[in-house]
Amino acid sequence: MPLERLQKYLARCGVASRREAEELIRAGRVKVNGQVVTVLGAKVDPRRDRVQVDGRPVEPVAPVTLMLHKPAGYVSTTRDPQGRRVVLDLVPKEFGRLYPVGRLDYDATGLMLLTNDGELAQRLMHPRYQVPRTYRVTVAGEMSDETLKHLAGGVELEGRPVSTAVTLLKREADRTVLELTVWEGRYHLVKRLLEGVGHPVLKLKRIAFGPLRLGRLKRGAFRPLTKGELINLMGTARAKFLKPATPAPRPEAPRREEPPPPRPRRIRVRTPQ
Ligand code: URA
Repeated sequence: MPLERLQKYLARCGVASRREAEELIRAGRVKVNGQVVTVLGAKVDPRRDRVQVDGRPVEPVAPVTLMLHKPAGYVSTTRDPQGRRVVLDLVPKEFGRLYPVGRLDYDATGLMLLTNDGELAQRLMHPRYQVPRTYRVTVAGEMSDETLKHLAGGVELEGRPVSTAVTLLKREADRTVLELTVWEGRYHLVKRLLEGVGHPVLKLKRIAFGPLRLGRLKRGAFRPLTKGELINLMGTARAKFLKPATPAPRPEAPRREEPPPPRPRRIRVRTPQ
């Protein structure tokens, strides 16, 4: 077996996501063959080397990936300093250590992936892979056609373009219901986009993530991904990794003089009959 980067190996062992594994290494909590290793480039031979975290041996685990229908009132982290309920409370302990893939706000509901496959989690969250996330959103106020078109044409947030696809589902005097797709996972992205066009979010539910659909999974319930879903999900991450269609803008990228060329967009504004 070829040598493997220590942080990647730790992620494969379900210890943490790759980024968190890097923090464990930097913090001096990881030993290889009895020696503390703090260098991020270090490699291990998974067959021969003995790896420990906080003195406990670690080994690769069978990958588990679950789809959860997150209810409101749960935090999508592994623990919460304020003592609120976390999404992992909804899954039996026998699945071992799982990590939420990305975040859904405390008051948001819908499709949340939980996995012990740190490598997969890392890829799905990385902006480079542009994994689409679709939300059913109820916003305050009656959204005008003009605002819908503006939103569907892609918008700017903090000086960076955000690609969007919008479908209008329902429009009333005091509220509008939309399906909104974005290809990245910035903090409060959907709420900030809609607040920015004058329509604060009242309800937010994620109904799709990459090739996965929430379907009829009940609120608070979970299920393992089917083999087919898992293959599709991995394919999404792998294909984008090898051949990104368009590079996603990076937060740390310097501002250009010229605006960047437009990224491909799915514009779909459908008004109800
Ligand atoms: N965008 C938000 O504003 N909140 C979420 O939970 C997810 C996307």
